[in-house]
Amino acid sequence: MSLLTEIAKRYSCRAYQDKPIEQDKLDRIIEAARLAPSANNKQEWRFVFVRDAKIRQQMQVAANNQPFVGQAPVVIAACAESDYVMRCGQRCGPIDVAIALEHIALQATAEGLGTCWIGSFYPDQVRQILGIPENVAVIELMTLGYPTDQARSKTRAAAEKIACYDHWTF
Ligand SMILES: Cc1cc2nc3c(=O)[nH]c(=O)nc-3n(C[C@H](O)[C@H](O)[C@H](O)COP(=O)(O)O)c2cc1C
Repeated sequence: MSLLTEIAKRYSCRAYQDKPIEQDKLDRIIEAARLAPSANNKQEWRFVFVRDAKIRQQMQVAANNQPFVGQAPVVIAACAESDYVMRCGQRCGPIDVAIALEHIALQATAEGLGTCWIGSFYPDQVRQILGIPENVAVIELMTLGYPTDQARSKTRAAAEKIACYDHWTF
């Protein structure tokens, strides 16, 4: 199956089976994150895979009480240990973590699992629940598990709306 097929298959899954994820699948998902590129190869991403049901319930509350967060058998807290600013002026932490997290989402798709990015959450609550130190940024959460819902058709802008060649022509 081509990479583009997996990319097209990924969708935001918001309903999950009550079924644990096999360790070999989790291992490959972590490997996908480990292989991601990062600025200066710093690799200062850290991922807490929350499997404990009680802690997942607390994570749901921290995620603005989105019901599927507690339902998913795994909730990932994606964190950055670095606040290094690149020459371009952008902080590499959120960028590096986002790349690795999408690697996770795509590998999960290839494993038959669903994911959903979660940006609606309170980082201080997550930090307290998981014991994450003050100097570590909680960048995003992601739910992970076997889906019970199905992909919807994608609403996306046409290619010419988002990409051009040689000069800015938007
Ligand atoms: C950074 C980011 C944060 C998001 N936060 C949430 C969220 O808190 N809750 C949610 O249900 N979906 C969230 N989403 C999912 C988006 O709504 C979804 O990706 C978008 O509507 C496109 O749909 P698709 O993922 O099914 O293709 C988030 C997505 C991204 C990339």
